[in-house]
Amino acid sequence: MDAFEIRGGLPLRGECRVYGAKNAALPILAATVMVDGTSVIEDVPELEDVRVMMDILRSLGAHVTREGNRVVVDGSHIVETTVPSDLMRKMRSSVFLMGPLLGRLGEVSVSKPGGCVIGQRPIDYHLRGMRQLGANVEERHGTIRCTANRLIGTSITLDFPSVGATENLMMAASMADGVTVIENAAREPEIVDLADFLRKCGAIIEGAGEDKIRVVGVHRLTGVEHTVIPDRIVAGTLLIAAAATKGNIALHHTRPEHLGSLLGKLREAGVQVEVDHDIITVEHVGQLHAVNLRTAPHPGFPTDLQAPMMALLTVANGASIIREDVFEARFKHVNELCRMGADITVDLRTALVRGVGQLSSAPVEASDLRGGAALVVAGLMADGTTRIEGLHHIDRGYQQLDAYLRDLGAEVARREL
Ligand code: EPZ
Repeated sequence: MDAFEIRGGLPLRGECRVYGAKNAALPILAATVMVDGTSVIEDVPELEDVRVMMDILRSLGAHVTREGNRVVVDGSHIVETTVPSDLMRKMRSSVFLMGPLLGRLGEVSVSKPGGCVIGQRPIDYHLRGMRQLGANVEERHGTIRCTANRLIGTSITLDFPSVGATENLMMAASMADGVTVIENAAREPEIVDLADFLRKCGAIIEGAGEDKIRVVGVHRLTGVEHTVIPDRIVAGTLLIAAAATKGNIALHHTRPEHLGSLLGKLREAGVQVEVDHDIITVEHVGQLHAVNLRTAPHPGFPTDLQAPMMALLTVANGASIIREDVFEARFKHVNELCRMGADITVDLRTALVRGVGQLSSAPVEASDLRGGAALVVAGLMADGTTRIEGLHHIDRGYQQLDAYLRDLGAEVARREL
């Protein structure tokens, strides 16, 4: 177990390149199971969740190698249809294997993913959609087994624009017989990236990025090369950290159009943000103003940036109201921020953040990925040296976060406990 030690009060300054998106790489790697051939995926971040996904692909019979940020998957000999439960337990995103295995081999067994600290996170939309595509779905003793001689295209309406359900069903539909329409689909950029990959492989998909996606099933997908889009949540986290330290940074290799909601809220809070092609710059940070925000499916404010943004607003002038409308329990970072002197009260899905003059360092612990990022933002601006435990959460979604921050002038040490 490791811990970060962060000496607060140093402004972040400099430039860095944003790497590929975890939440695009994971479904795309899962989709390589559908490809009867070799897929070359570029700009795949080096993260624990990606390592687990690569091990899952190997357990299914794929040959998987990594050369730097390039991951090569040969899916010619996928023979296994059961995702090992020990690997499933390590990462919820293994549920993404359901659609691909069902589509390619007509069978898949996964263990029911547990909830996590941010909420119960059921997969009922995924399972209902698979049944609507003609699969037989059995849930017994914690295992979910889906079988289908052939998936049959149909019309599916999601109760909520679920990112994972949209991705899983889009993958399954890609190899179904006939046409599938997914209504009330999620519109996240990672879904567009997955669709782009699948279309390169020969899938017929229209409307990804909109709330209605149309898929015409095909019988075979062939291997291609694909570069994953930049990680908008990592980019957003670094922009928030720059604002929190009244710094001045330029992020290269971004997609500003993926961050419209965050950039708008940062500007509303008094942060001068400039955009020039794929470069986003935090130019100047005056007195921060309180802002209200509610998380929502894309293009609304991303739930994955709610915690880091809350950390920033703990020192804004005035009171901010933050409403978490995507997950039912995504405020686990509040108590830790309050240990650092923040003034936050929570009522169900709403947090009231009253700005204080400055946070003070304290020993804190991350309990989830983005909550951990919030504690890093808080530590960067707190008076004194903050110690953050629970780095395994942060390592799931941020590649060498301490090294990136040190390159931007922060004093962050990673200590073995
Ligand atoms: C994806 O999770 C992301 N993970 C999450 O990022 C992100 O927070 C989330 O989308 C929302 O943007 C990956 O892409 C790997 P959902 P996912 O299905 O697909 C409910 C991070 O920090 N729901 O859109 O699991 C669910 O409980 C992670 O990188 C059902 O009720 O999110 C939640 O309240 C955290 N039934 C809401 O929908 C279902 O069958 C949104 O979940 C599916 C979802």
